[in-house]
This record gives sequence, C-alpha cells and structure tokens, in this order.
Amino acid sequence: MSRVFDSDLATELEDLERRALRRRLRTIETAHEPYVKVDGREMLMLASNNYLGLASHPEVRRAASDAIARYGVGAGASRLIAGSIEPLHELEREIAGLKGVEAALVFGSGYLANLGAITAIAGPDDAIFSDELNHASLIDGCRLSRARIFIYRHRDIDHLSSLLADAAQARRRLVVTDSVFSMDGDLAPLAEIVDLARKHRAAVMVDEAHGVGVIGPNGAGLAAMLGLEREIDIHIGTLSKALGSYGAYVAGSRTLADFLLNRARSFIYSTGLAPAMAAGASAAIRLIRSAPEIIERLWENAGYFRAGLERIGFKLAPTATPILPVMIGESADAIRLANGLLERGVYVIAIRPPTVPAGTARLRVTPTAAHSRADLDFALAAFESAGRELGLISAAVSRCTP
Ligand SMILES: Cc1ncc(COP(=O)(O)O)c(C=O)c1O
Repeated sequence: MSRVFDSDLATELEDLERRALRRRLRTIETAHEPYVKVDGREMLMLASNNYLGLASHPEVRRAASDAIARYGVGAGASRLIAGSIEPLHELEREIAGLKGVEAALVFGSGYLANLGAITAIAGPDDAIFSDELNHASLIDGCRLSRARIFIYRHRDIDHLSSLLADAAQARRRLVVTDSVFSMDGDLAPLAEIVDLARKHRAAVMVDEAHGVGVIGPNGAGLAAMLGLEREIDIHIGTLSKALGSYGAYVAGSRTLADFLLNRARSFIYSTGLAPAMAAGASAAIRLIRSAPEIIERLWENAGYFRAGLERIGFKLAPTATPILPVMIGESADAIRLANGLLERGVYVIAIRPPTVPAGTARLRVTPTAAHSRADLDFALAAFESAGRELGLISAAVSRCTP
C-alpha cells in the first residue's frame, strides 16, 4: 500500500524532473553573509532576501541572543493561551512607529499573516481584487477566504476599475497587492489604487514584504514613500527579508489589530513568534532608523550590478528595486545558467513556473548592502563567462569588468 503511494509520488517527481521543474535543497553551513559555504564550497550569495545584510549583523545577533538568554527559545504556545512575551509587544511598537500607524500585530510568518488577515476580513459575501502577480501567500489567502476573487492584469488600473464596478453588490471589497513584486521588482501603482478604492468604497491591503527596509523614508515601505500610510487600510510586511529575522506583521488601526487578534485563525491557532526573532527584528528596525545609509548602500550596489549585467548583454525585467530579474525564458536554460554560476562560485537560483509564468524563467539576483565592489565584480565576471559559454549572451557585447 505505502509502496504504491510512494511510487505514485515518485512518478510525479519524475515528471517535474523531465520538465526541468524539480526543486532541491542545498545545505548552507555558515551564516548568511556575502560569502556562504554551500555543500562544503565557498560561494558568493546573490539569491537571498537579506537585502541589508542584517541576518548576520552583530547588533541583530546580539539582540537575538540576549533575548534567548532572558526568555528562552520558544514562545510556549499561542499568545492568547500562554501569554504574550514582552519582546513581541516591543516589536509591535517599533513596527507601528516605523509605519506611522496606530498599531501592529505580529504573526509567525508572512505566509501566515497574509492567510490570517485575508480570511479574517473577507468571506463568501465579499469580493477581493488581486493583482495577477501577487505572491502565493496572498493568492492562497484569497482562495481560502471563499470570497469572490477578481484577478486584474498586472498593475492595470483600468482593468481594476472595471472589475470594481462589477462587484458593487459585495458586502466588503478588498484590493490586495504586493508593493514590490517579488519576482519582478516592479512597484504597484499604489496612489492610483488608493484613489480607485476610495471611489468604490473598497479597503486596500498592501504586502510590503520586499518594500520594508528597502524603499521609502527609513525603509518604511512604498506606502510611506508616497505619503499613503494612513490611506492604506492593511499594511503587511515580513521580518524575514531586509530585517534579517523571521516572522511578519499586520499594521494599521488599533481596531484592525484587535479584530485580527480575535479573528485571524493563523494568529489564534499558531504558536507565538520566538523571542529571539522578535528582538532581532526590533534591533534591525532601530538600526535602519538610526543609520539609513545602509539602505543607500543597497541601492548603489544594485544599480552597479544592474548596469554591469546589462553591459554584458543580459536582459533584465523592468525592475524598480534591488531585485534584479535576469530574464532567460526556458526553465532548462535558466537552470544551465544557474549551474554555470554555481560552478564558478556564485550562488543564484533559477526561478521557474509555477512561481513565474511559463516561458519567463529567470535568475532572480539580489545584491545586498553587505557586498563589496570586488564581490560584485567577481560575480559579473562569472555571469559573463557562464553566459558566453552557454550562448545566452552574444560575444559581440563589450566586456563589463575592468
Ligand atoms: C510578497 C511576499 N509576501 C509574503 C511572503 C511570505 O513571507 P514569509 O517568508 O515570512 O512567510 C513573501 C516571501 O516569502 C513574499 O515575497
């Protein structure tokens, strides 16, 4: 019986393998620093969301280990059951301060925050409007809510407008969007979305997973950059990317936070965030607010690397952020290039369907604030040599590296 079950699964895995879609884990044996040890080899890391290098920053590490010394490792149970440890409350105050809103509620992860917030707010009588390139956790939250889902073309305000007009009868209307699209690096047209939403009495939920720590004043995100902090009804963000920790938040009004504390199933029925993660994230926020030049370094590095890739002859998606999608097309080609880079000591990963639409496989490259110019030049030389060897760039393009 179990052998039949296993061979059934194995057949599916073989099918993924045939279509160059099978995924595997690689073991990292060191901290997330510019160079990591992968399966015994030193490699330059260009695949993480550790945009500011804070996952291994001494102050963030110290805050996390102090929290372990004082509070232990685990939170014990759901915060509503075993009590809510102080570092989580401190973190919620830090987040509300950064975002310029009344309150925040911390969740176990971004996936859980999106699932919990959407399913608490929307139900079968409601309508959700979702950008077609939204993150999987937003998509899954929409599906699980059992609300009517209207998917609008990527960043297409006219399409969103016509869909909103079609759902005038819904009890609640909720527009949901990433602020920075995770696989493309482009930005949601937030001001236009807010205008439209107001016209149609819809609430707006923005996932700033890749915005917080990266964009806006002190890394407060896209909404803050546009002065829309108070216009967005539900701010979501993760602690796991630029903030170098783990966990996530929903921020907005005090009423929203209280509502979710009572209604979000992924908050109520899941163990509270570990104290070390909360303390690490608080330290990261304080660090960014006191020394925002770290964000400038990230953007300078991303600009330098992007210009280098384009000079070599790679085609990038029209990104507006430090997420650099090197467009390849076919999954097999993207894997060959990623493997060529791994062989040359550069850690990048091919992003393939279903994470991105068919025919748009890419390498998602993320220089961080922690990389030096020498690191980036080393990686550009590897891109150039691997790209040439595989025939993915033309030999006629001038050399980019000095
Ligand atoms: C836009 C977006 N939202 C949510 C998540 C999920 O966050 P987490 O990794 O904390 O679960 C991610 C990334 O993983 C993301 O890119």
